[in-house]
Amino acid sequence: MKLKATLAALCAVASFSAFAQAPIVIKFSHVVATDTPKGQAAERFKQLAEKATNGRVKVELYPNSQLYKDKEELEALQLGAVQMLAPSLAKFGPLGVKEFEAFDLPYIFPTKTALYNVTEGPIGKGLLKKLESKGITGLAYWDNGFKVMSANKPLRTPADFKGLKMRIQSSKVLDAQMRTLGANPQVLAFSEVYQALQTGVVDGTENPPSNMYTQKMHEVQKHVTVSDHGYLGYAVIVNKKFWDGLPADIRTALETAMRDATTFEKAIAQRDNDMAMDAIKKAGKTEIYNLSAKEQAEWRKALLPVQKDMEGRIGKDLIQAINKEAAK
Ligand code: LMR
Repeated sequence: MKLKATLAALCAVASFSAFAQAPIVIKFSHVVATDTPKGQAAERFKQLAEKATNGRVKVELYPNSQLYKDKEELEALQLGAVQMLAPSLAKFGPLGVKEFEAFDLPYIFPTKTALYNVTEGPIGKGLLKKLESKGITGLAYWDNGFKVMSANKPLRTPADFKGLKMRIQSSKVLDAQMRTLGANPQVLAFSEVYQALQTGVVDGTENPPSNMYTQKMHEVQKHVTVSDHGYLGYAVIVNKKFWDGLPADIRTALETAMRDATTFEKAIAQRDNDMAMDAIKKAGKTEIYNLSAKEQAEWRKALLPVQKDMEGRIGKDLIQAINKEAAK
C-alpha cells in the first residue's frame, strides 16, 4: 500500500514537471521570404520572445506559405491551428473587417509619417479592436512600403493599363484601383504570383520592391514603374483565445518582445526596399521607370475617384479621418 502511494506520488511529480517544462508553442505562419522586412521581424520576435520567457515559449516560424496560403492562414488562425500571423492589411476583407482596406486607397498616405499618424493613433488602435469579434487580437502594425507597378510593357500613364490582367491581393479597393485604370484585376494568393506572371496568367502586378525581388518577380517582368501609388503593411495578429489563456507574466514578456520586434521592423523596412530596388536594377532584366512629378499628378488625378467609390464599403467617416490624420 505504501509502495503504491509512493509510486503514485512519483508519477504525479513526473507528470507535473513534464507539464511544467513543456514549452508553449506559437506557430507563426506567413507568406513572404525570410529576407523581407516581415520575415526578418518574425525571426527577431522569435529570438526576443524565447529569451524573455527563458524558453517557456517556443516560436515556430513557417515562412513562404510553407503551411498555408493567404486565405487559409486566416482560417487556420481562427481554428487555432496556428497562433500568430502578419497578413497584409489588404487581406482582412474576406474575414469581414473591410475597414482595413482603407490602407489600400491610392495615394492616401503621402509619407510614412502620415501613415504612422494613422497606425499608431486612435484610428489604428480602433481598427485592431474590430478584430476581436472575429476571435482575433491585434498586437501591432508592421511596415513594408510603397508599391511599384510592373508589367511586360512600360506603364507611364494610366492609359497604359488598359486591358492588362493585373494580380491583386483580395481587397475590393485594389480591385477598384485596377478597374479605374482600365485593367482587369485578378485575385491570386501571393505564392502563386511568380508562376502566374511567368506563364502569362496575369500580365502584371504591384508590390513593394522587397516582395518583388525576393519572389524573383522581376525576372518575369520587363518593366517596373516607381509610382508610390499605394501602401502595403501588416497587422500582427494572434488567436484571441490562445492569447487570453496565456499566463499573465508570459503575455507581458511577449508584448515587450513584440514591441521591440516592431521597432526593429520599422527601422529596416525602408532600407530593405531600397536595397531590393538596387538589386532589381543590378539584375538588369527589368527597366525601371520613375514617374515625373507631372506624371504622378496624372496618376493621382485618375485614381482619386476610388476614395469616393469606396465610401460605401469602408465608411466615409473613416476615409475622412484618415485623410485628416495624414494631412497633419
Ligand atoms: C501580397 O500578397 O502581395 C502581399 O500581401 C504579401 C505579403 O505578405 O507581403
